[in-house]
Amino acid sequence: MKLFAGSSNEPLAQDIASLLETTLNQREIIHFADGEIRPWIQEDVRNEIVFVIQSFSSPMNDHIMELILLCDAIRRGAPRRIIGVIPYFGYARQDRQHRSGEPVSARVVAKMLEVVPMNEVITIDLHNDAIVGFFRIPVLHLSAIPILAKHLSTSVTPESVVVSPDVGGVKRARNLAEILGTPIVVMEKKRNFDKADVSEAFQIIGDVANRSCIILDDIISTGGTIANSAQALMEAGAKEVRVAATHGVFSGDAFSTLKNAPITETIVTDTITRAKQPERVASTSVAAILAQAIQKVA
Ligand code: R5P
Repeated sequence: MKLFAGSSNEPLAQDIASLLETTLNQREIIHFADGEIRPWIQEDVRNEIVFVIQSFSSPMNDHIMELILLCDAIRRGAPRRIIGVIPYFGYARQDRQHRSGEPVSARVVAKMLEVVPMNEVITIDLHNDAIVGFFRIPVLHLSAIPILAKHLSTSVTPESVVVSPDVGGVKRARNLAEILGTPIVVMEKKRNFDKADVSEAFQIIGDVANRSCIILDDIISTGGTIANSAQALMEAGAKEVRVAATHGVFSGDAFSTLKNAPITETIVTDTITRAKQPERVASTSVAAILAQAIQKVA
């Protein structure tokens, strides 16, 4: 087995390698001044099962391209199989044509990975489970919810309730609520399709008065969804709001948006690496579930 990492999340890749009691294999990735990327695999991969770890974090398009080129370089060395380990699968929110005239971008990315060719994908908490069906190759779709639940379990009380910030997240919230033994509440979110990254929380389905709310989302990007939801829950009489999300994308002004929101604590995983951990944001690791998945697939 060979284990290569793209440049998106080397700390997580190192942790996975340590858990597997191995080291990352040698590669070089050069970015030219005009934006072209040139990876170089510096090890023999003939007849090997090769895992390539790469999250589609920002700069997302570069990281996707890096993975594609790395896999092409590996393919030319005649490996047995190439497995993409993609802790955060970007473009997943474009999982349908929201308006006529739009692409189904998640499907396009899936097709690009297939032609590389990639033989299998391991990923975590896709925005929509249906994306697994966009691939013709096997996808091992893992969940970080049990890991988030472990972190949250110490603050759960009889008044706790898990909140889905939108209708699309109900299944995720149900999974967390079952582990924590709480009821669930669902919020309705309106997205503004004319303005990117703008949404509005406009209805709470369920009772949150005097409740400790745990909002569960798959992604925190600008923080707008979480901040609006937290505000609406507090206005509806919630005692406090905690937030859990698998992918801490934290784009734009997310850190200050979260800091100014009525949120006691936010917990995310390390599917995306951060230079610095923002205030009141804790992190828990997915390295162990990825290492187990790699062992299972190898
Ligand atoms: C969208 O439906 C997702 O589940 C998240 O709620 C969304 O991506 C969060 O984005 P933002 O932090 O920019 O509001």
